[in-house]
Amino acid sequence: MDVLQTIRCRGSVRAFADEPLDRSLLEAVLHDASRAPSAINMQPWEVHMALGEERKRLSKRLLRSYRERRITCGPGAAKEVIPERFLQRGRESVEQMTPLVERMGSDFRTYINEGSLDFYGAPAVALIFLDELLHPDHLVDVGSFMGYLVLAAAGHGLGSCPIGLVSAYQDEVKDQLNIPESKTLVVTVALGRPDPNACINEFRSTRAELSEFVRWID
Ligand SMILES: Cc1cc2nc3c(=O)[nH]c(=O)nc-3n(C[C@H](O)[C@H](O)[C@H](O)COP(=O)(O)O)c2cc1C
Repeated sequence: MDVLQTIRCRGSVRAFADEPLDRSLLEAVLHDASRAPSAINMQPWEVHMALGEERKRLSKRLLRSYRERRITCGPGAAKEVIPERFLQRGRESVEQMTPLVERMGSDFRTYINEGSLDFYGAPAVALIFLDELLHPDHLVDVGSFMGYLVLAAAGHGLGSCPIGLVSAYQDEVKDQLNIPESKTLVVTVALGRPDPNACINEFRSTRAELSEFVRWID
């Protein structure tokens, strides 16, 4: 697929088919994602791929913790009050997704929070870490890798969803997957084939006008 077409067509998938993926396909996606730019080409991302039953075991553990700790998806803590325009964009997505989730017999908060920790049923999940010895500036590199990863997945015919909520449960992730304390889980990306019968996958997110976030200096 042409790169611009891939960019324009990609959207987060929130219901995956329970269908295993070939390792060679995932390797091809990861190869392409690793073409992402990073500061002085350090490529500081560290990726753990949880597949099949291992992925399901991880989700069981995360959902158990969720029931105890109740940390949910949200705009996150900020030093100052979050500008209204950012909150409004989030509210718009919630409003548009809610009827789709309700058609599936769930409610928005349950579907998004429990769904995120279940990786929306994806057969594969990339858990992307940064070593704590690296300066937080390198989070930009991980973001760059994540952006390439979701596009590479789309280019190879797979759906994806970045999932940040899991980072709030990183102690459980590290314990379950035997990952050293010194690694920071930045973000996870669920990968798989979209469930064609799930109406949540009809959701298309909107974007702000350029005039809302671009200042031209000439
Ligand atoms: C860093 C990051 C964290 C995210 N965390 C979650 C999450 O925990 N759960 C979820 O359902 N979607 C999550 N998303 C997906 C966003 O909600 C989604 O990208 C956004 O609404 C735009 O929609 P689109 O990806 O379909 O274009 C996350 C995206 C990013 C980039």
